[in-house]
Amino acid sequence: MTVRDELAVGLWDPGDESVVPQIMEGLVAVGVPERFGIGWFYWKFRDGPWGPAVVAYARDRSDGRIAGVTAFGMWRLLHDGAPVLAGISFATFVHPEFQKRGLFTELTRLAQEEALRRGARVLFNFPNQSSRHGFLRLGWQDMHGIETWVKPVRLVRVLSRVVTGPRSLKAVVADPPDAAIHGAVPPFDDFSSLIEARTSWAGLWAGERTPSMLRWRFFGHPRYRYLHVEGDGVTALVRTASRGSLREAQIMDVFFPPERPAAAIRRLFRTIAERCEADTLAVMVTRGHPLRPILKTSGFLPVPNRVNFFTYPLVKDCPPVGDQVNWALSFSEIHMM
Ligand SMILES: CC(C)(COP(=O)(O)OP(=O)(O)OC[C@H]1O[C@@H](n2cnc3c(N)ncnc32)[C@H](O)[C@@H]1OP(=O)(O)O)[C@@H](O)C(=O)NCCC(=O)NCCS
Repeated sequence: MTVRDELAVGLWDPGDESVVPQIMEGLVAVGVPERFGIGWFYWKFRDGPWGPAVVAYARDRSDGRIAGVTAFGMWRLLHDGAPVLAGISFATFVHPEFQKRGLFTELTRLAQEEALRRGARVLFNFPNQSSRHGFLRLGWQDMHGIETWVKPVRLVRVLSRVVTGPRSLKAVVADPPDAAIHGAVPPFDDFSSLIEARTSWAGLWAGERTPSMLRWRFFGHPRYRYLHVEGDGVTALVRTASRGSLREAQIMDVFFPPERPAAAIRRLFRTIAERCEADTLAVMVTRGHPLRPILKTSGFLPVPNRVNFFTYPLVKDCPPVGDQVNWALSFSEIHMM
């Protein structure tokens, strides 16, 4: 019997709720926390600011179990300030029983075609070691990793943990939405003027930020606790986490005016550390991100990671994806749970 006889392959219709519990079961099996629940699924795959995600899935014909999924969320990038509809990889898995039979390849091709049909011009993802080979085989372009920058704030504490238990520092657990925070969090406003400043990132590919995107991404379905920290006309969106016994503030995005005021951004880093009672600050960016030069001169150190970054133009007239120096993505895309 071929995989085709055993499985029904198709695209999820966002109005179809009947298959969602099974897809969710499959996602939980590959690491999505069960506590996220069905509400999280709809938040991520149906209610995104640029329309429902493309979800290609395969079901076992005999018992309805999900055998595999490839999903791309609809995303908007800015290229040289002009919007480009894109797809960001939201899920890739094949149940071990059905692996090595071409299912990933079939589902990914189907999802790519559907993303193109919906108007996407480019896809991007951060594949892990298991799927990177499969994406390369399908013609995706390796943009050579993503950078992690870490600033030790409480240096003695950080050094003692690095010396006594470096292994324990690998596991990161982000705080739940109801975690306590030192001091009051101001109400979220849309800081539209700072969002607009991103359109002046000439020559770069960047993730578009709009008030509705930020509201959805950070203050929509509560999975983690995000807060915004402001000062001197600069604003950051931050997630707090524990890394072993250290407290980490993960800076998802920093919004600053076009003149990129390094001194104000540095003061904001200090405020974030105080507000989050952080031992370390962490930032992930692609090499072209305008924040990167400021990290380098603000006490952040590069640390190795195993994150891949791939792109896949869907149309011939897609602006050139270039090299990683042409991209300004941040945690907001890279940690898209
Ligand atoms: C990564 C993953 C999605 C691949 O799924 P898959 O369906 O096994 O992938 P494919 O079958 O299309 O390809 C896998 C291999 O099987 C081979 N293959 C495909 N059809 C085959 C067949 N009929 N007979 C034998 N081998 C076959 C492919 O050539 C490929 O080989 P290669 O790796 O040497 O190039 C799957 O292993 C998985 O879900 N892993 C765990 C979750 C995960 O890590 N997801 C990635 C998150 S980013």
